[in-house]
Order: sequence, then C-alpha cells, then structure tokens
Amino acid sequence: MIVEIKDLSVRFSTGRAALQALDCVSFTIEPGARIGFVGESGSGKSTLANTLGRLLPTSATIEATTFAIDGQAVPQLSSRELRHLRRDAIAYIFQDPMAALDPTMAIAGQMRLILKEDDASLSGRLEGVGIRNPQRVLSSYPHQLSGGMAQRVTIAMALMRRPRLLIADEPTAALDASLKREVMDLLFARCAEIGAAVLFVSHDLPLVRHYCDRICVMYAGRIVEERETAALFANPAHPYSRALLGAEPGAAKFGERLVAIPGVPPALYEPTNQCAFAPRCPDVHVTCSRHRPEDLTVDGGCAKCLFANASELREQA
Ligand SMILES: Nc1ncnc2c1ncn2[C@@H]1O[C@H](COP(=O)(O)OP(=O)(O)OP(=O)(O)O)[C@@H](O)[C@H]1O
Ligand SMILES: [Mg+2]
Repeated sequence: MIVEIKDLSVRFSTGRAALQALDCVSFTIEPGARIGFVGESGSGKSTLANTLGRLLPTSATIEATTFAIDGQAVPQLSSRELRHLRRDAIAYIFQDPMAALDPTMAIAGQMRLILKEDDASLSGRLEGVGIRNPQRVLSSYPHQLSGGMAQRVTIAMALMRRPRLLIADEPTAALDASLKREVMDLLFARCAEIGAAVLFVSHDLPLVRHYCDRICVMYAGRIVEERETAALFANPAHPYSRALLGAEPGAAKFGERLVAIPGVPPALYEPTNQCAFAPRCPDVHVTCSRHRPEDLTVDGGCAKCLFANASELREQA
C-alpha cells in the first residue's frame, strides 16, 4: 500500500473559530493505482493533497488513526525523514507551472537540483515529455516557456526520482483546452512506465473519468462516495454525486440551460451531526438531519448516505 489513511481530520485555526477542512477521511492507494478526487470548490481536495506531504501552514492541526505513506507514519516523521519522503516517495504537480518553477534559474540548473545529470541525460528527460528542442529549453528561464511547455518541464522534474506517488492538483487548470489531453496522456503514460500511483485532483469530470480507476467525491471535508469509475458514472449512489455529475457542462445538450446545484456548501466552522448535504439534497428525508451518515457498501465502493442503496431499490421496483 502506498497510502493508507484512516479517519484523517484537518482543522485550521482562524481568527474566528477552527475550520474543519477535512473530517474523518479514509482511503488507501495501491501501487500504480490512479485515483481521482472531485467535488466543488472548498470541499477539501487541495487540503487533502497537501496534507499527504505535510505541506500545511502552522495553523493546521492534523489528526488521524492511520496516516502512512510507503509504510511510514507521516505525522511522526522528523524533518529529515520528511525531507526524504518528499524527495523520494512522493512528487507534486501543481496548477500553475510558472509558480512551481524558480524564475531566477534556467531549467537545467533547476533539474540539477533534483539529480546531478549531464546535459544529454536532461535532454533525454525533456524529450520523454514531448519537448522537441530540449537544448533550448534547458538554457531557458521559465518566463521564456509557454504554459504547456512549462507544465511538461514540471512533469519531467516531478518524475526524475521515480516517485511511488504523484500528486497532481488541477494540473491542467492553466492549460488551454487543446493541450489538456496531450499533457495528461503524457503524465499518466510516464507514471505507468515507472509504476507510480497517481492522485489526481480536478474539476474536469470527463478527464478524471478517462484516466482514473477509482474516484472519491468530496463534500464539506468528507469523502461522500468512493467508487470504481465505471460504477460511479453508471449509477452514482450519493445524491451529491448525482447532482455533481448532472451539473457537468458536457451533460447538457446544445441549447439547454446548464444545471447548477442549488444552495451553497456549509461553512465548516460548526461540527455537524447531520448529513452535511441535507440542506441542499433533493432526496432529503427527516432522518438525514438527525444522523451523521457513515459508509454504506454499494456496487464498486461505498457512499455516506443513509439511502445510498435507494436507487437500486427504485430500479428493482
Ligand atoms: N490555510 C488555510 N487557512 C484557513 N482555511 C483554509 C486554509 N486552506 C484552506 N482552507 C479552507 O479549507 C476548506 C477546503 O479548502 P481547499 O482549498 O482544500 O478546497 P478545494 O476542494 O481544493 O477547493 P478548490 O476546488 O477551489 O481548489 C475551505 O473552506 C478553505 O477556505
Ligand atoms: Mg484546490
């Protein structure tokens, strides 16, 4: 198991009260697996991605029953061990490649901070991510590269030490639509070659569907549904997942109005003893505001809804 997480909670202390950004999140990632995290803005996806490498500000408190990466208990790691974990076991690709690169250094110098290699080897790495004129890119500064090229460079850099887990948080957000597929094909192909697992965070449901084997749907700091990709898209069990899939712009026919999920997500200051989605749920039942739902097993995964299996029952009726 590359990642083993059970009951992970993250709280940020703010000027007001503590904000519960993650609330008892549990999941595992097997070697080479491709897992997607989706959910609307503020649901906790980036907090989760950053928690894995302990990249949180000091205002954050992490609690977990189990929080292990590559067999190491992450909360207990010393700063030296943590540096090793970040250097060798995990790698990140962020939304904005320009912000990820150092603006004061040419690309060759930045790559050599990761591994001391000669120009020929570095060129080979850039060719491996589809860069046709590697020599020019090696001597360029980040501002001299296009966004697509810069993201290819960050992918090459992230994979240099053959991480066991690549965490990609909205890696296509700064790319134009025609480049998205090309860059993502490359990212997933290179990860498959070196056997790295991928944790892919994105708002782009078709992209996540295309590349991931499993998907976690997040809402208000919880994973409300975790399913095999095909099962989720065929028959989402949680009303929030149904609403999210229904709000996907590609789901609307030409000329139809786009569907939005009514209401807003809850403020995360108050611990809640009800289903966090209850105030917005079209299928809400009186018991939903009295019980905090735990995982129910559904085909290909689980969902945190008291009525997760209701759609199956409806289908059978
Ligand atoms: N450093 C911080 N201090 C206080 N609150 C924070 C901090 N970072 C994130 N949060 C809060 O935690 C919650 C989860 O935020 P997070 O960035 O993880 O969401 P997200 O799912 O990645 O959203 P998006 O899709 O917009 O990137 C939000 O309510 C956010 O305001
Ligand atoms: Mg985010």
